[in-house]
Amino acid sequence: MAILKILQYPDERLHKIAKKVEQVTDDTRRLIRDMAETMYAAPGVGLAATQVDVHLQLFVADVSETHNQLRVFINPEILALGGEEESEEGCLSVPGIYEKVTRAEKVTVRALDENGQPFTLEAEGFLAVCIQHEIDHLRGKVFVEHLSQLKQMRIRAKLKKRMREIL
Ligand code: NI
Repeated sequence: MAILKILQYPDERLHKIAKKVEQVTDDTRRLIRDMAETMYAAPGVGLAATQVDVHLQLFVADVSETHNQLRVFINPEILALGGEEESEEGCLSVPGIYEKVTRAEKVTVRALDENGQPFTLEAEGFLAVCIQHEIDHLRGKVFVEHLSQLKQMRIRAKLKKRMREIL
């Protein structure tokens, strides 16, 4: 297994549109294991392939408190959205930034698991938020892009300043 490098906003590669996984193979499963390890090590609750510069429709998530309920979503499709809810989000590609985003409260998603088996999941609460956040990544969208232009400008300035402090 390996810890993968996570792209940091505003990296242009975060805006690439992910392609469908044609076939779930051992290579796919290796990528899933590495992504899971990277997510747990960060630590985070979700990681999309886009964030590790692999532009395939695939993400992992674990919103459990015990960090032992890994969920894998390959070629996820949103079948239904319901309600509306505002909650605070963060992202491993936008470290240290937490902002409120309005999303659907419930989501029904269809995807393939790590064995290529289709499943349908109805999620609500934090998992529903996480699924929508990760699917956004696969479409080339980072959560801060739900915010106003002014807020986005401020976030980019803050991240640039922090980058200079580190270097
Ligand atoms: Ni994210």
